[in-house]
Amino acid sequence: MGEAVTVSVENGIAIVTIANPPVNALGHSVRSGLDKAADRIDSDVDIRAAIIRADGSTFPAGADIGEFPNVPQPFHGDVFDKIEALPKPVIAAIHGTTLGGGLELAMACHYRVAADDSKMGLPEVQLGLLPGARGTQRLPRLIGAEAALGMMLSGKPIAAKKALDAGLVDKIVPQAELDAAAIEMATALMAKDGPLPRASQDSNWTEKDRADPQLFDRVRETHGRSFRGVIAPNAILTCVKAAVELPFEQGVEVESSEFERLLASDQSRALIHVFYAMRETAKVPGIGKETPLVDIKSVGIIGAGTMGGGIAMCFANAGIPVKLVEVKQDALDRGLGVIRKNYENTAKKGRLTDDQVESLMDSITGTLAMEDLSDVDLVIEAVFESMEIKEKVFTRLDAIAKPGAILASNTSFLDIDHIAAMTKRPEMVLGLHFFSPANVMPLLEVVRGEKSSDSVIATGMKLGKTLRKTPVLARVCDGFIANRLMFPYMVASQNMLLRGTPMQEIDAVMRQYGFAMGPIALLDLIGLDVITFPGETTMTGELVKAERRGQKLNGGFYDYDEKRRGTPSPAALDIIDKVRQANGVEAAPPLSPDEILTGLLYPVVNEGAKILEEGIALRAGDIDVTAILGYNWPSYQGGPMCWADIHGLPKIVAGLEKMGIEPSALLAEKAASGGSFT
Ligand code: 3HC
Ligand code: NAI
Repeated sequence: MGEAVTVSVENGIAIVTIANPPVNALGHSVRSGLDKAADRIDSDVDIRAAIIRADGSTFPAGADIGEFPNVPQPFHGDVFDKIEALPKPVIAAIHGTTLGGGLELAMACHYRVAADDSKMGLPEVQLGLLPGARGTQRLPRLIGAEAALGMMLSGKPIAAKKALDAGLVDKIVPQAELDAAAIEMATALMAKDGPLPRASQDSNWTEKDRADPQLFDRVRETHGRSFRGVIAPNAILTCVKAAVELPFEQGVEVESSEFERLLASDQSRALIHVFYAMRETAKVPGIGKETPLVDIKSVGIIGAGTMGGGIAMCFANAGIPVKLVEVKQDALDRGLGVIRKNYENTAKKGRLTDDQVESLMDSITGTLAMEDLSDVDLVIEAVFESMEIKEKVFTRLDAIAKPGAILASNTSFLDIDHIAAMTKRPEMVLGLHFFSPANVMPLLEVVRGEKSSDSVIATGMKLGKTLRKTPVLARVCDGFIANRLMFPYMVASQNMLLRGTPMQEIDAVMRQYGFAMGPIALLDLIGLDVITFPGETTMTGELVKAERRGQKLNGGFYDYDEKRRGTPSPAALDIIDKVRQANGVEAAPPLSPDEILTGLLYPVVNEGAKILEEGIALRAGDIDVTAILGYNWPSYQGGPMCWADIHGLPKIVAGLEKMGIEPSALLAEKAASGGSFT
């Protein structure tokens, strides 16, 4: 490995190059390299201007997240201040995804030239942090507090052209001309005298922003959603207020103390865990780049219902042609009709042209003949959840599909090994479990059967990426990872309701925790006919008998108005009473919010521990990712396993015992030894 920062001097221009693959993160070696480079630029009389550039795919994409939660030394902000204070012009030559600390470095330079296809952003909020290397202080001075807050609160990067219009960069050029343009700029600047533009001293915007007393209220209103549940956005607001109202040095003090507070918070610990966990799911021990992949150029899907239709859209969107098989013409017409309607709705929102809709529809061919699947590379079965039907489908499919074709099932709960045994190619069979709506939900569980080959698993994982989803590997069990994990949550919510805790209180506690909806409202959304709870007389079973299937038919636990706002249904309350009596259950006093929370979450943690212990999931982080992407678990809680670590495993073990639930061996062992899952 070469040095992370090198300096060469040509014609009086110091060319400072950062080389720290893969994303030039500003780790210790880069910061000390930049610090030394600044000293040399200052002291070397032959140097009259400098350029800071980076090798590889991007200008630094941020601080090195791996160094957190410690406060890295030397601190980024101090190094950047030193660069800004240099008496010679320094130009940042920006390309790729210039994010976080990378953009803060660029803002400390006196001038910025950017590749026209580059992107710039401050995504720290997504890690539960704020731009802590003077970003909250320099950006408002460069583009105004309102635009700066837009970038910092959303965390989303902006394109180079927008950065140019906003005044964040001075010039944009094609990527191939970036170095030459920076040298040209430096040469011109060397010939010029006069003060250098320093963002920290620029008061144009702060004066304007001080004269706009409604600014911060406006921002709060526009970005209200970003504040929900999380602490970083308020801290960002505090810092930007300081940027507008105070001199730079005092603003820096506010920023540093808020940054350190966030760095030590549970939320940033959780979100940083999620950052790594999301990237780790794709790594499967024993399967590497050398594992041969099956080339998927065409796909067959059996069943054009809720899931089959959504899955067909995923492939069409990825440019892979699909043959969609149904048993009856009307079911096929209905399925294709739903797909068309979905695309047309997207077109109405301006996100597809009419021509694109037609070409997407052209890539999906409907058929009633399974024989038409004889030439496709992959078939995904999405027929009714019945083993009897799936057995028949796979036996027939095996005779039709070409040798070497992969056969997958989208089953939610059924045994992939049993399905594979219906074929003469069990090594080519796996589960590809999509979540509803399949064209929207970002998770793909890749289920590895006893006999699935490495190549088939590697292809399944790669497919996740092709379809722009996060693939997570699971082994065969009832419900795989996500559904198995969340089943105890749903069961616990039913027990609470049956014992007399009001549905709206159960749901409110989970919304407060960060879910978009609580478990009872979630059941109404999924459809009460879809999940079966144990027991003969269940509340969902009785509601379905009363023709109440949830939001899709007559309401469920809640009644819904035209805006889909729910109120507890008197009919459902009657049914709850009846089921309580039928099961001989006595109503107890309603649980407290804390009892609701722990009563719902501890069983999930316990199930997660079993999933890990049985080797169904490879790692605790994979379980967290399935909960976040499959069930919208609030990412700032880190998912159930990370939450458990933060909450305290001994407390969870004691709580489970009190509820009469036996803690899994792994959970008990970790709690006793002071270990953790993540
Ligand atoms: N620190 C450490 N490692 C990082 C990193 C960072 N800032 N950014 C990316 N990486 C690592 C990833 O973990 C991954 O490692 P792996 O190969 O071992 O799994 C590798 O770099 C490649 O990353 P991706 O797989 O994400 O590559 P992509 O090409 O898909 O995306 C990216 C590149 C857009 C730069 C994306 O990685 C990204 O968004 N990175 C995070 C950016 C960020 O959050 N920056 C702010 C950091 S906090 C900060 O700067 C604080 C400051 O204000 C003081
Ligand atoms: P669905 O009832 O909406 O659709 C099933 C379709 O399969 C129907 O259109 C039916 O006509 C068709 N079909 C039945 N037998 C067939 C055959 N032999 N050949 C061709 N087509 C046939 O069901 P849904 O919800 O799409 O579920 C499909 C599968 O996906 C099930 O295994 C289910 O467990 C699983 N799944 C469902 C999820 C959901 O939320 N609905 C989520 C994830 C998986």
